[in-house]
Amino acid sequence: MKIGTPKEVLKGENRVAMTPESATQLQKLGHECLIEAGAGAAAGFTDDAYEAAGVTVVKTAGALWKEAEVIAKVRVPTDAEAKRLKKGQTLISFFAPAENELQMADLAKKGATVVAMEMVPRISRAQKMDALSSMANIAGYRAVIEAGNNFGRFFTGQVTAAGKVPPAKVLVIGAGVAGLAAIGTSTSLGAITYAFDVRPEVAEQIESMGAEFVFLDFDEEQADGAATGGYAAPSSPEFREKQLEKFREMAPDIDIVICTALIPNRAAPVLWTKDMVEMMKPGSVIVDLAAERGGNCELTKADEKIVTDNGVTIVGYTDFPSRMATQSSTLYATNIRHMMTDLTPEKDGVINHNMEDDVIRGATVTHDGEVTFPPPPPKVQAIAAVKKEKPKELTPEEKKAQEAAAFKAQTKQQVTLITVGAVLLLAVGLVAPASFMQHFIVFVLSVFVGFQVIWNVSHSLHTPLMAVTNAISSIIIVGALLQMGSSSFLVVLLAALSVFMAGINIFGGFLVTRRMLAMFQKS
Ligand code: NAI
Repeated sequence: MKIGTPKEVLKGENRVAMTPESATQLQKLGHECLIEAGAGAAAGFTDDAYEAAGVTVVKTAGALWKEAEVIAKVRVPTDAEAKRLKKGQTLISFFAPAENELQMADLAKKGATVVAMEMVPRISRAQKMDALSSMANIAGYRAVIEAGNNFGRFFTGQVTAAGKVPPAKVLVIGAGVAGLAAIGTSTSLGAITYAFDVRPEVAEQIESMGAEFVFLDFDEEQADGAATGGYAAPSSPEFREKQLEKFREMAPDIDIVICTALIPNRAAPVLWTKDMVEMMKPGSVIVDLAAERGGNCELTKADEKIVTDNGVTIVGYTDFPSRMATQSSTLYATNIRHMMTDLTPEKDGVINHNMEDDVIRGATVTHDGEVTFPPPPPKVQAIAAVKKEKPKELTPEEKKAQEAAAFKAQTKQQVTLITVGAVLLLAVGLVAPASFMQHFIVFVLSVFVGFQVIWNVSHSLHTPLMAVTNAISSIIIVGALLQMGSSSFLVVLLAALSVFMAGINIFGGFLVTRRMLAMFQKS
């Protein structure tokens, strides 16, 4: 079949649905690829690059829509584009079916098939086609970069000769795909990162990425993720109140807020209110990814960057993926290519639109002259649906028995280790000279003690740990002090020099450690 990609007509849209790389893979499925001249230019893909990958460059959009049997594009088609779609043609694109009923009915009547990329269900097998996730991932990353661009300070804390810089405090609201990408970017830039989500099951993911989950003291049974296709369900008014109360408490201390909270097919919940913005310090930044659906921040203006009277910058851009067009086109084109792989099971260039397949059925919104939206829930459970089983409540007797068993196992392990160690030491002692054994035992004991001390120190504290061990290593000062009373002037001079330098090491080491530890203190 002929797969064609037109140039996106929406102003400011830089992405393209086919890249030279994806075209190569599509051709391996037996398809022929066409592209409108200049379609990839804004994303950094030249017509020559497409031609080199075996793609036919078509001069005009009109010719492309006429010639291609499958049209792959990014944005929801404009009315003019939809008019061009004919009976038997397939359109693969973002389509916003819930808000696009007229166009959908029209295309169904015409007999065109529409595959809406945002409708790909969130099940494991479909991850490679999940364009919403790949775009949200980019948006989450870019949101933090954009925040950094508008924030006047470092993300990471620093101790420099010119003074101490505290780390930025970032709050990410909503830990879905975009939120997790934002958390990853923020922690890797060194900011102290907090995150909140209504789904408590994401707490572990948030913490494994180095951020802190903001817990609410509220017990609410959340809807099963499976029932909602892996998305959150709306929370109760009481829960929302509690949430706002917590945010209000945090607002004066937070430098950057990244808003990503969303429940599909609903307006974005307002979670960062006007009074919270007013409580923030001048220079703070809010990046609201939910701007397209009204925004999580009360003051967000879609597609605009505003600065409030108290100096808080609010970024409401809705085109973050397009601002990184090369990356987003590469990922989106790969999503389309995987969709085509599923639509071409025999790899013979013939499309088999199998409506029994969960993913194809879920994403198809018009087919065979009918509107097929909304789809039935997928037979396979959504990824986020794995619910943790609550640990069984133990009686006091059971608890005691469990503790005793754990203690016994631990003691047994320790006794075994000590016995093995003692036997090994004895074995070495049988052959080694006494002077060696004396040093060897001290060495073994210091390795043991050092290991015990360092093992439990968290990774983030390894730098202060190095500073303090550096200070401790200056114990050599004792040797220098003992040499002070020597009759030789040279020895006294060298000893004095050693005391001086080791002194700097000791006092400097402890001073730097104290300042570094202060940086990690959260309040
Ligand atoms: P997602 O559905 O994966 O994540 C949304 C998260 O918000 C979920 O984890 C959900 O539990 C959470 N949530 C819902 N209600 C909440 C509440 N009241 N409080 C706290 N958390 C709540 O969605 P995804 O893919 O991460 O997208 C996030 C947002 O980013 C969406 O609004 C999407 O439209 C937007 N987006 C914006 C782009 C832009 O250029 N501005 C580009 C791509 C996505």
